[in-house]
Amino acid sequence: MTFGYFSLARAFSSAHVFSPTRRLLITALIAFMFGPFAGAVFAQAEVNVYTSRHYDSDALLYAMFEEATGIHVNAIQGGEDELIERLRSEGRNSPADIFFTADAGRLWRAEQAGLLQQVSSNVLEAAIPANLRHPDGLWFGLSRRARVIVYHRANVDTPPTTYEDLADEAWRGRVCVRSSSNIYNQSLVASLIEHHGAAEAEAWGRGLVANFARPPEGNDTAQVRAVAVGQCDVALVNHYYLARLLTSTDPADAAVVETVGMVFPNQDGRGTHVNISGAGVTRSAPHRENAIRFLEFLVTPEAQAVFVRENFEYPVVEGVPHPAVLDGFGPFVADVLDVTAYGRNNPAAVMLMDRVGWR
Ligand SMILES: [Fe+2]
Repeated sequence: MTFGYFSLARAFSSAHVFSPTRRLLITALIAFMFGPFAGAVFAQAEVNVYTSRHYDSDALLYAMFEEATGIHVNAIQGGEDELIERLRSEGRNSPADIFFTADAGRLWRAEQAGLLQQVSSNVLEAAIPANLRHPDGLWFGLSRRARVIVYHRANVDTPPTTYEDLADEAWRGRVCVRSSSNIYNQSLVASLIEHHGAAEAEAWGRGLVANFARPPEGNDTAQVRAVAVGQCDVALVNHYYLARLLTSTDPADAAVVETVGMVFPNQDGRGTHVNISGAGVTRSAPHRENAIRFLEFLVTPEAQAVFVRENFEYPVVEGVPHPAVLDGFGPFVADVLDVTAYGRNNPAAVMLMDRVGWR
């Protein structure tokens, strides 16, 4: 920069003696130094994150990253599909460096739309198990979510122990679950297609829909509340919704969690369905190196502890201390299916859910 400044000053002072060609070159040089590329040289280091996550934990993560690296995080929040659409329409001019979202199925959609680029990082590859990231580094799992069964303790003697159980006619009219437009359910069905094949997964879907206590409505928390008031006896939810209710200071929430029990499904077999929240570097990333540093920061023990402590997600790395509420859930066997299957089987899962009448 110092070099650029001084040589530029000299060029200016004697510009009148230069030929038109040289003047043109100097003008081009000035335009380069102070034009759109100048940001990379002179402006504060930054990284632009398009995120569908909406948790207090993330503001803390951004602050910690900035403190550790001096790189400022500009977070733009939006719905998953909205952000994918925005990236698509901005194309190569997008200011986004990172796409950060929940669910491997959504990361797959961004990948399929050509919005992400390959990243090769020893730090990320060493920290994140291979089944929780894209094989070519298009995206990386940064936290884990378990899809668990919640049941009404007084109304249910023997709770279901597997996802497969939920399609059994013993549960006719007793199951609550959110709609098929929800990506968590799409990814669960995608995993069943992977494990059992399409035909068996579809038979399961028919059985499950036959067991619905009501047409799907509300988010995962609403399913827990519906169980608590006896509207249904069992429900499928991500574990952290339950953890939030358990740690809530609202007495009404305390009454809800008092009424329900939780099962990690498929503990005697392949393990509980686990999804990820994760991120990838965008194809157009103007600050590619900063983006990679941001991802690498998010797998440090300090950052992983924030996902776990503040948002009750499970870490992707070993040895991160759990808050009491997760300790209370106890250890569990996680399905180690490669999460890329959630994306690959997503179109088949969506069509299956439509055919079996899962609204
Ligand atoms: Fe969620």
